[in-house]
Amino acid sequence: MKKWNLPAGSDRKVAFIDARIVDPESGLEILGDLVVHEGRIGDFGESLLSDVELKSFDEVINCAGHLLIPGIIDIHVHLRDPGQLQNEDIHSGTKSAAAGGVTTVVCQPNTDPPIDTVETLAYIQDKANKVGFVNVLCYASITRGGRDLTDMFALHKAGAVGFTDDGLPVMNSLFMRQAFLNAAFLKVPVAQHAEDLNLSDGGCINEGVMSHKLNVPGITHLAESVMVARDILLLEQLNAHYHVLHVSTKKTVEIVRAAKDRGMKVTCEVTPHHFLLTEEAVDGYNTAAKMNPPLRTEEDRLCMIGALKDGTIDVIASDHAPHNEVYKELPLKEAAFGIVGLETILPLSLELYHSGILGLHSLLAKLTCNPAKIIGSEAGRIKVGSPADLVLLDLDSEVRINTKQFASKSKNSPFGGRKTKGKVLRTIVGGNTVYTDI
Ligand code: DOR
Ligand code: ZN
Repeated sequence: MKKWNLPAGSDRKVAFIDARIVDPESGLEILGDLVVHEGRIGDFGESLLSDVELKSFDEVINCAGHLLIPGIIDIHVHLRDPGQLQNEDIHSGTKSAAAGGVTTVVCQPNTDPPIDTVETLAYIQDKANKVGFVNVLCYASITRGGRDLTDMFALHKAGAVGFTDDGLPVMNSLFMRQAFLNAAFLKVPVAQHAEDLNLSDGGCINEGVMSHKLNVPGITHLAESVMVARDILLLEQLNAHYHVLHVSTKKTVEIVRAAKDRGMKVTCEVTPHHFLLTEEAVDGYNTAAKMNPPLRTEEDRLCMIGALKDGTIDVIASDHAPHNEVYKELPLKEAAFGIVGLETILPLSLELYHSGILGLHSLLAKLTCNPAKIIGSEAGRIKVGSPADLVLLDLDSEVRINTKQFASKSKNSPFGGRKTKGKVLRTIVGGNTVYTDI
């Protein structure tokens, strides 16, 4: 049975015993115990605790040999709060995160109003502290509706971990250049939703075989790569950190790979849907598989897999984009872009491990320490002194995805009915169990 609790503070001593502890950053893998003290990892090791010592703990959790890993850090999440509460809010969105083994979300600023003022940022931080099951961090907007730049310095001081206009690109090259300059000074990433709007031109799915078959306007793959190429040219002299959100095309990956080879500070992420699905999924006018960037071709999908393997793609992020049925049960052209992802990111990503494409450590790095590095978080690793944000995972348990059981307010996913392997048994934030399914 699934159960959620809000985090209750950090004054308790908790012991996890008989766990297969895996830390992708250090390469640690042991069968042993882990101690949480004041919300942080106090110690871990093989045969760490005697029966006598265990008596001094407030809580002892027997992990029965299951995997104990750092909690997932999902750096691409739309919480829809403020302003679109019919789709999600901070309570339901973080509840969904907890169920998915996600202990930190980075919410995107395309809320209503957008996160382009310190006041809106403070509203989210305050509400997350009161009703959030997991840690909530925020990107703030780069521009105010594309008209002018936000006060990036004030927003950074107030806690923004990076900047993006996600949902929309920064079309104005001068703004993007200035954003890079500011971000280089602040030492935070500028994350781009790479889409040249003139090229995408109101399209709704990938331009190609499927858009012709369904006779709907397509989005050329060039809409993405042209923007990434422009940004990398702008970045060349500036020593800023450029992060490409949800990459989907072969050309984009090639451009990112070349920039990385030249030593530029460029990182990128991919969503599970872009490495598991193709445009075939929208056949039959399936709006559940409509998202932006759109699902592409098998060649692109295989390229995502190759780039995950060779490290060109640093991070897997969900792009959790909740839309309720009012916005999805529409003709393909009019339906909203986006799918929910917090409750499926882990089992879908584990397909890469179970099919032998990535080793366990390499896969988990893309969900934990790699995203942590991008946003400058000290979480995402099992290290003495790190926040005790953890997931207890049954790696081999089979789970059929049931969208009706999602904790999210929205159920828009093309993965309903899919058989996956890997079940979150317990999610821990700051040493507090926020979710169990035992
Ligand atoms: O599919 C998408 N949905 N892509 C985006 O860039 C925005 C997101 C949303 O906010 O719904
Ligand atoms: Zn986006």
